[in-house]
Amino acid sequence: MHLSDLPPGQRDDWTIDQQWDRYTPEQHQVWATLFERQTKLLEGRACDEFLAGMRALPIAPDKIPDFRQLSAVLKQHTGWEVVAVPGLVPDEVFFEHLANRRFPAGQFIREASQLDYLQEPDVFHDVFGHVPLLMNPIIADYIQAYGVGGLRAKEKGVLDLLARVYWYTVEFGLVEQKDGLRLYGAGIVSSYTESIFALDDPSPNRVRFDLPRVMQTDYRIDDFQETYFVIRHLDELLQLAHTDFAPLYEQVAQRPVLQPGTILPQDQLVHRGIGTYHNAKR
Ligand SMILES: [Fe+2]
Repeated sequence: MHLSDLPPGQRDDWTIDQQWDRYTPEQHQVWATLFERQTKLLEGRACDEFLAGMRALPIAPDKIPDFRQLSAVLKQHTGWEVVAVPGLVPDEVFFEHLANRRFPAGQFIREASQLDYLQEPDVFHDVFGHVPLLMNPIIADYIQAYGVGGLRAKEKGVLDLLARVYWYTVEFGLVEQKDGLRLYGAGIVSSYTESIFALDDPSPNRVRFDLPRVMQTDYRIDDFQETYFVIRHLDELLQLAHTDFAPLYEQVAQRPVLQPGTILPQDQLVHRGIGTYHNAKR
C-alpha cells in the first residue's frame, strides 16, 4: 500500500480528521432521529452496562458526537480512544487499532432516506453501537484482545474462525440479565428492526454461547441473524480474552462449517427458533 493510494487527508493508519465542524444541520438531524428512535427502544432491551456507558459519555441526543470529547472520557475510564476512518478499513489496520485501544469509527453518517440500510458502518453504528460498551472494563479488554488475536489469526490463515466469534459477540451478542435476555451486540443495538427481532421474534434460535461451536458457525451479513448466541454474564467474554485460541483453531478447522440456522443435538437452547422469517425467504 502506497501513501499515494490513500484518499486525500488520510494517513497510513487510515485515520482521518473527523472535521466535526463540517457536519451539516441535516447530518446532525439524521443522528437526532436515529438517537431518539433507538433510545426509546433500548430501555429494557439493552444490557445494563450499555445503558450505563451511554449515560456516562458525552453523547447528546441532537448532535453527532465529537470524537475528541468521547476520547477524553474513555481514556480516563478504560484507556480507549475513538479515531475517525472513512469507512471499512483493511483487517490488519483494524486489528492494529484495536490492539492499541483505538476504536476506528466511520466519520460519515447515513442519508436520511436510508435510515435502516447500511453498506458500511457509519458514525451511528460505530459510536452509538460500540462506544458505550468500551466504557466497560471487560469489553474494553475483550476488544483489545480481539485486535491482538486478529493479527495472529490473520498470519495463521484462520481469520474466518475468529471473525465469527467477534460477529456473534461484539456485533450480535445477547446476554442473560436478571430481568431476562438483553442486547449487547453493537449490530443489534444500533438497528431499530433487529433490536426487536433479536429479542422478541420467535423466528431466530437463541443458543448458549460455546466457543468452538461459534467458531464453526457461518453468519449472515445482509440480513437478521438466524441464530443468536447467549452468554450468561459479560464476564464470559473476559475468560475468552484470556483463552489461547491456537489449539481450538486446529480442532475447529477439521470440522464442517455450520449454516447459520443449524441446531446441533448438544446445543443448549435458550429458545428454539421457529424459523418463519428466514424460511419465507428461501
Ligand atoms: Fe460494528
